[in-house]
Amino acid sequence: MAVNLIGRSFLTLKDFTPEEIRYMLDLAKELKKLKMAGIKPRNLEGKNIALIFEKASTRTRCAFVVAASDEGAHAEYLGKDDIQLGKKETVADTARVLGRMFDGIQFRGFKHETVELLAKYSGVPVWNGLTDKFHPTQVLADLMTIEEHYGHLKGITFAFVGDGRNNMANSLMIGCAKMGLDCRIVAPKGLHPEKELVDTVKAICKETGGKITITDNVAKGVKDADVLYTDVWASMGEEAKMQARITLLKPYQVNMAMIKKTGKNPIFLHCLPAFHNNDTTMSKDIGEMEVTDEVFESKHSKVFDEAENRLHTIKAVMVATLGVK
Ligand code: CP
Ligand code: NVA
Repeated sequence: MAVNLIGRSFLTLKDFTPEEIRYMLDLAKELKKLKMAGIKPRNLEGKNIALIFEKASTRTRCAFVVAASDEGAHAEYLGKDDIQLGKKETVADTARVLGRMFDGIQFRGFKHETVELLAKYSGVPVWNGLTDKFHPTQVLADLMTIEEHYGHLKGITFAFVGDGRNNMANSLMIGCAKMGLDCRIVAPKGLHPEKELVDTVKAICKETGGKITITDNVAKGVKDADVLYTDVWASMGEEAKMQARITLLKPYQVNMAMIKKTGKNPIFLHCLPAFHNNDTTMSKDIGEMEVTDEVFESKHSKVFDEAENRLHTIKAVMVATLGVK
């Protein structure tokens, strides 16, 4: 049966079948090709898109704005101090108002429940641009980048190293399971993902042939990895935990010694932003944390291909859910 995602919200990859994810990845590939050829199909001509941001963003915001513009839609940025959401007005009421004016709504913020309420009450497709729990548009870009490099997804050995219970680890586990990858979450015991989510992921793996391993053992976790992935050690909203996390996660830093431990020639991915150097353009002297500058700047690193693919995949999600012309 042909895949049809028109009218659907995009809150987590749990809600999508492997065929539907494949459809979005193929559409992203096609839209990337068209953009490279200078062709703008304007699938979203005349549409209006609301972009709600409670947290900061470079890639996600810019990807939505440029994707909307490429496809002929208007995107309106609504920052946390611009609207009444959750302050003078309930999420349900804001959702119903925006749904009367906009064709689609992107939300980035704290509680996952907020994006669920927006989807429930707005009556239009809602796209999750990151919550404390999930970051699914990022995972589409990650899968696209892996496929561009290796030519396939099934059977790829993927190791996420670091904070194993953050939004990226949660979403990557689901995305890998759906597409049949061998996924390892390599994290200290105190930062392992929630059992309920791991059980869900195991059930998906049974259907798809994917694999999931949760381990605190770096050597075991990264052995044979085709992809090494990491993320910041303290996510947005957790800044106070940074010192404790540095102590806990230091052995999990992605460095050349870890690359060697894979026994392969892996690619390195990171959703970005990354703490990898002391640069005078930064407001604080943060330095190397989750990844060394040597790895970040090496031939292994595909982080800027990955960042660019945010544009093509987010465009695909909007076009798929609002309708291809
Ligand atoms: N990876 C990502 O979501 O980046 P931004 O926080 O800049 O949007
Ligand atoms: N885990 C990070 C991802 C940023 C794209 C955060 O939530 O801050």
